[in-house]
Amino acid sequence: MSKTLAELYEELKDCKKCSLGKTRTNLVFGFGDENADLMFVGEAPGRNEDIQGKPFVGAAGQLLDKLLNSIGLERSQAYIANVLKCRPPQNRDPLPHEIEVCKPFLLEQIEIIKPKVVCTLGRFATQVILDKNVTISKVRGKCFDGNGHYIFPIYHPAAALYQRTNLVDLKADFLKLKEILSDETKKSSQGEEPEQLMLF
Ligand code: URA
Repeated sequence: MSKTLAELYEELKDCKKCSLGKTRTNLVFGFGDENADLMFVGEAPGRNEDIQGKPFVGAAGQLLDKLLNSIGLERSQAYIANVLKCRPPQNRDPLPHEIEVCKPFLLEQIEIIKPKVVCTLGRFATQVILDKNVTISKVRGKCFDGNGHYIFPIYHPAAALYQRTNLVDLKADFLKLKEILSDETKKSSQGEEPEQLMLF
């Protein structure tokens, strides 16, 4: 039998694999439906998330909820996780070593949930999941083929809070996300180079 999210959490909850294990208040594992079709991947917990131990509870999270509601979904129907499970001090960018030690846990979460779509929020999550040094403005709103799921990069909701044009794009990308989620005909094929398989 494969692992459950609860079992993975037990393995991870006291993690000290990098120095963020010393500075965090709470490890932020993830939130939502273990059987969700839609999984969001953000960058790393911020201050509010570190305090509450839940992902996307601040202003960016409120916008994410609104965008989800705009396509008829609630947060509890999706699953939300981050590349890093612990807050980098002063919200600095994740370091390569931190990504390296934390990424396998994210991949395990994806493996357990088996979502139809992994929607990456912003540059960091997108680069980690596509495993490529892509520019978010070039790949956002395009659908890539992952290993048994679609990968759909969009802007990070925080970027839309300070740049109005990003919000326009984000709203449009959510409509596309709704289409992808309801599409039954296109099934992803396994293990191919993502950019050869731009599907939508
Ligand atoms: N930004 C992220 O990338 N993740 C969170 O959980 C909160 C803000």
